[in-house]
Amino acid sequence: MPNTKIEPLRYDPSGVLSAYGSSFGQALDALVPALDAARAEVIEEAASWQRGDTPPPLKTPLDAGFIDLPERLLADYNGPKRAESELYKVVTAARRLAESVDRAVVLGIGGSYMGARALFDACCHPYWNELSRANRHGCPRLYFEGNNLDNDAMQGLLDLLARGAGIGAAGKGGDDAASRQWGIVVISKSGGTLETAIAFRTFLAALEKSGGDVKSLVVPVTDLGRNEKEDDYKSLLYRLTSDLGCRDTFEVPDGVGGRFSVFTAVGLLPAALLGLDVVKLLEGAAAMNRHFREAPVEENVVLRYVGVGHLAETRHGATIRAMSTWGKSLEAVGLWYDQLLSESLGKSGRGATPLTVVNTRDLHSRGQQHQDGRGDKLITNLIVEGVRQDRLKVESRAADRDNLNWLAGKTIPEALDAATKGTNLAYNSVSRPTADLTLAQTEEASIGQLLQMLMLATVVEGRLIGVNPYGQPGVEDYKRNMKRLLQEQ
Ligand code: PA5
Repeated sequence: MPNTKIEPLRYDPSGVLSAYGSSFGQALDALVPALDAARAEVIEEAASWQRGDTPPPLKTPLDAGFIDLPERLLADYNGPKRAESELYKVVTAARRLAESVDRAVVLGIGGSYMGARALFDACCHPYWNELSRANRHGCPRLYFEGNNLDNDAMQGLLDLLARGAGIGAAGKGGDDAASRQWGIVVISKSGGTLETAIAFRTFLAALEKSGGDVKSLVVPVTDLGRNEKEDDYKSLLYRLTSDLGCRDTFEVPDGVGGRFSVFTAVGLLPAALLGLDVVKLLEGAAAMNRHFREAPVEENVVLRYVGVGHLAETRHGATIRAMSTWGKSLEAVGLWYDQLLSESLGKSGRGATPLTVVNTRDLHSRGQQHQDGRGDKLITNLIVEGVRQDRLKVESRAADRDNLNWLAGKTIPEALDAATKGTNLAYNSVSRPTADLTLAQTEEASIGQLLQMLMLATVVEGRLIGVNPYGQPGVEDYKRNMKRLLQEQ
């Protein structure tokens, strides 16, 4: 049970029902048994994964280990052997690294960094890396690399790290050793992804050159399994980092795929480095699991969301799913979801196309099309009720030359709320479907619920339409070609 009361996530598809008319509501009612069956299938898969059953060929891979993971992690952490629990080790390693470094570079791509990025943007100060060490509560600045092959971006970061080693956070947060030092969290489940591997070699060489103690400044997160054929570790990353003698190493557990790994060390270690409350995050995810298992289909946020998306696509051709975030902090959550949905369901010519939208910014770039373009979009507004900082108000001015005094005293959140409602009204007036997904706050418990909800929804939809949501065989083609072309060069 969570220690604190968790404000539940809410889903309201009334703007979809009104846009598509009463037959849509009837189709949604008719879909209840299929959604119930898909839920039962997903729950059984989690149980079967726990029992260690071999999945049938059509369900291979079956990475259902993510489903009960939050509960397992919390149970171990709250149990009698806390110091041996994974969560304790993650928090301890994060604390140790945070004390040693002022800048941490997270190397990883796809599911191996997007969850951490989402947590960073959603839960931290928007200008975190600009804050003094004291204002970051002694936590490091965070950078993401190894997610591209961009020479100038990598050089830029190396340059910054080298300069940081010279000037540290002097004048802002002191110039002790920690304020000058940097470290690496390198994340790759397979341990062989080229973008991350190349970046790791590059940043490792720079760290060695800077004289940093690599053993304690590099924390790998990867598969720790052995390859029986070669009698060595499967992960090339692990082969390298175990030779280095890294003090802390974390595993991406078996049965948890990259894009479902945000609640393993892949997401939790960077989150703990940033001082986020990882227990609350997991409690939010566990609360969503409970709701998913227990709530009737008609009240179930996960199943309603799946049903609406599925029917909008199959009955009305809404093949584009726009996740319209209101405010800036959830853009990276949207991008995380883009890869989750694309890689999970974009198979065999199937799968809706996700699109992250940030409003009100994108009303001035995409608004015209969403109001008036092709009717191929289902818009889900991601709305946050609370704010974390004091509410700004529109100032009044004596001369009122810009005629804005009528707004004086109104808050920025009130203006955003009017923009959200006004946009929904505008879309509704031309039968453009909009649903609202509402979070209490951009803090750990809400974000934990949201991420778990979207992962569950993705696998439920996969089972509903007969697409295995796990694995991403299509991505292998580019990797093979790229490697061959590099070898031929
Ligand atoms: O969801 C996935 O499995 C992918 O997005 C992977 O996370 C991504 O390809 C990175 O793989 P790896 O962690 O093996 O480097």
